[in-house]
Amino acid sequence: MDSFRIIGGQPLFGQLTISGSKNAALPIIAASLLFKEKVTLTNIPELADIRTMIKLLNILGAETTFENNRLTIDPTDLRSDQAPYELVKTMRASIYVMGPLLATKGHTRVSFPGGCSLGVRPIDIHLKGFEKLGASIEVNGGDIVGKAKYLKGSEINLGFPSVGATCNLIMAAVLAKGITKMKNFAKEPEIWDLVEFLNRSGAKIMRKEEYIEIEGVEALSPIEYSVMPDRIELGTLGAAALITGGEIKLKWQHSDIISSFREKLEDMGHHVHLDEEEGIYTFKAGKMKGNIDVRTLPYPGFPTDLQPLLGVLLSLNKGTSHIHETIFENRFMWVPELERMGADIHKEGESIIINGVKTLQAAPIMASDIRAGASLVLAALAAKGETIIRRIYHIDRGYENLEKKLSSVGAKIFREKI
Ligand code: EPZ
Repeated sequence: MDSFRIIGGQPLFGQLTISGSKNAALPIIAASLLFKEKVTLTNIPELADIRTMIKLLNILGAETTFENNRLTIDPTDLRSDQAPYELVKTMRASIYVMGPLLATKGHTRVSFPGGCSLGVRPIDIHLKGFEKLGASIEVNGGDIVGKAKYLKGSEINLGFPSVGATCNLIMAAVLAKGITKMKNFAKEPEIWDLVEFLNRSGAKIMRKEEYIEIEGVEALSPIEYSVMPDRIELGTLGAAALITGGEIKLKWQHSDIISSFREKLEDMGHHVHLDEEEGIYTFKAGKMKGNIDVRTLPYPGFPTDLQPLLGVLLSLNKGTSHIHETIFENRFMWVPELERMGADIHKEGESIIINGVKTLQAAPIMASDIRAGASLVLAALAAKGETIIRRIYHIDRGYENLEKKLSSVGAKIFREKI
């Protein structure tokens, strides 16, 4: 199993390019099942979750090629509608094939995605939405079996703005008969990347103030589409510059969709600025101010995926800070690992209290999920001495060439079989 060996203490300086967004690419790749001809996608990040989604499409019978971040998918000869447990259990986003398969084949059998280290992660909002569109859903031997002669437009109130359910239900509704109106939908930027891809392929999806309106169409015809850049990688690499006392510039040809993260970094005393003209996001370490409080919220609130990265930054901040996690029930798995490095953090229910310390000490630690793993990389970059991080397969699920990018701006980070 791969590990990272990191020698801390090097400030990072230089310029990097951000990869395509994992959380935009996954639903867009699944959406290729809505087409009757080959789909070509570019800026697709080369990482484990993407390879898992491609493998799932191959199991369903789609032909694919994937090279130099360019993915072609030919879904014209699907021979199965089953997403098997051994694959779904490794990646929850496998559930994204349900919407397209109900919309085109009228039947699907997807293994119930188990929980993960972040919590139970139910899919009730997805399933209730499919039933509103006319599908019959039943659970049979650990599989969800969905059937629909055809899908019919309907009013759907998600109840909670679930990112995955919003994507899944958009994909189910684009070919449904009639109009669908979705309320309480999620507003994350990756959802609008999926919408942009579908609309440019002939779908009719409109964002109104209070709801998304989808007018079902007969068929879609694919355009070659480049997936948006990854805002969580942007925040991760920016935070790496700040925690090491350096300054890096990141190419960012997109609007400021991490402003809630930037504002907290500025409150901490760092200099973070997006030059929209140049398309460059600069992160420059500043003098620490203390006492930061943050609550994670659905977009445009503070993103839960950047919570561990902010937490590690705050562990070296002055004063006492609080983080309240409202999206997942168990997203503080990075805390015990950081305490092994000398951080002073206490958990109280869904919140943590962080008393900033002057330095972190190198110690053998372990990744538990994608973003917790990334936050431990940042801690190791800032710590004195040599840190070994085990189970970095978690990190490989969500970051393309992380160690190469960090090494190119001065980090001493090595991938080893330990
Ligand atoms: C997406 O997960 C992202 N994954 C997550 O990123 C991200 O943390 C999350 O959205 C929130 O922004 C992908 O896009 C592949 P949700 P998703 O449905 O869709 C509850 C990463 O590190 N819920 O918005 O699973 C659920 O339990 C990953 O890249 C229900 O109760 O998130 C959770 O508490 C981690 N019923 C909350 O809603 C449902 O039917 C948010 O879940 C669905 C969700």
